[in-house]
Amino acid sequence: MQATPLVRPNMAATIRKITSISTLPHVTLEILKLGNNSSSGAKDMEKIIQTDAALTSKLMKMVNSAHFSLREPVLNIRKAIVFLGFKVVKDIALAASVCDLFSNDVPIGSYRRTDLWRHSVCVAIAAKLIAQKTKLNIQDQVFSTGILHDLGIIMIDQYLHSHFIKIMEKHETTQNLGEAEKEILGFTHTQLGAEVATTWKLPEEFLTVIENHHSPIKAKEKYRKFVSIMHIADVIINGQKVGFVAERLIDAQQFNFALTQLNFRKKDIGIIVAELPHEFEKAKDLIELVEDK
Ligand SMILES: [Fe+2]
Ligand SMILES: [Fe+2]
Repeated sequence: MQATPLVRPNMAATIRKITSISTLPHVTLEILKLGNNSSSGAKDMEKIIQTDAALTSKLMKMVNSAHFSLREPVLNIRKAIVFLGFKVVKDIALAASVCDLFSNDVPIGSYRRTDLWRHSVCVAIAAKLIAQKTKLNIQDQVFSTGILHDLGIIMIDQYLHSHFIKIMEKHETTQNLGEAEKEILGFTHTQLGAEVATTWKLPEEFLTVIENHHSPIKAKEKYRKFVSIMHIADVIINGQKVGFVAERLIDAQQFNFALTQLNFRKKDIGIIVAELPHEFEKAKDLIELVEDK
């Protein structure tokens, strides 16, 4: 008997389906609503996080990771805010609140959700290093945007699962995930992710990174540097083959554009790559966080 071929899904219908049955965790939305006002925000954040014991312990584990270089361990959110600043703790809390999107790990060929988590954390780590070199201050959002940049992949895996299995099969022989996605779905994870992020009313920075991390040239001028950092981080981490590798080929035009945006030369990439093993070691507990449960 011949298997029935999979029909391409309609993107608008897919988005309607996703957004009608799935929202961001309630607590994520509450954290997003906090804004950037640290004086009232600290208290409000404590209130929001403390209603969720699992999230509190996850957040404390994350802030105490050597990645954040605290001189001494902190035992509560208030102390974390004192040492790291409100915006950085908010960034980490956002990342912690979406961790579960990467759990329920059932392997599909060589794909695992935990590997996508690993990829996403490592992109955040590399992006932070790049940002430090370019002196662009994105420290207060680099972690959560790194974690969510491939939101579209999570959505395809969860809501178009039979298509996702086919995409992963196809991806074994394609250079880039986008090619396989276009062939099976007719759209890519960046397009779907951006539509979902819009419907969820995620802040514009998230939306732009989700939409343009493979195409910084198309990003709005205002966010081009930020998106270029995420693009270069993504290329570096794919090259290092840490976690899930979506892209096996570099788009030279996009990559060179991103380098120019940051006044980076190829040798600067070498410097970042050389620093990564040490940074990965420091962030070991973050990289393995999702497997931890
Ligand atoms: Fe991607
Ligand atoms: Fe990625």
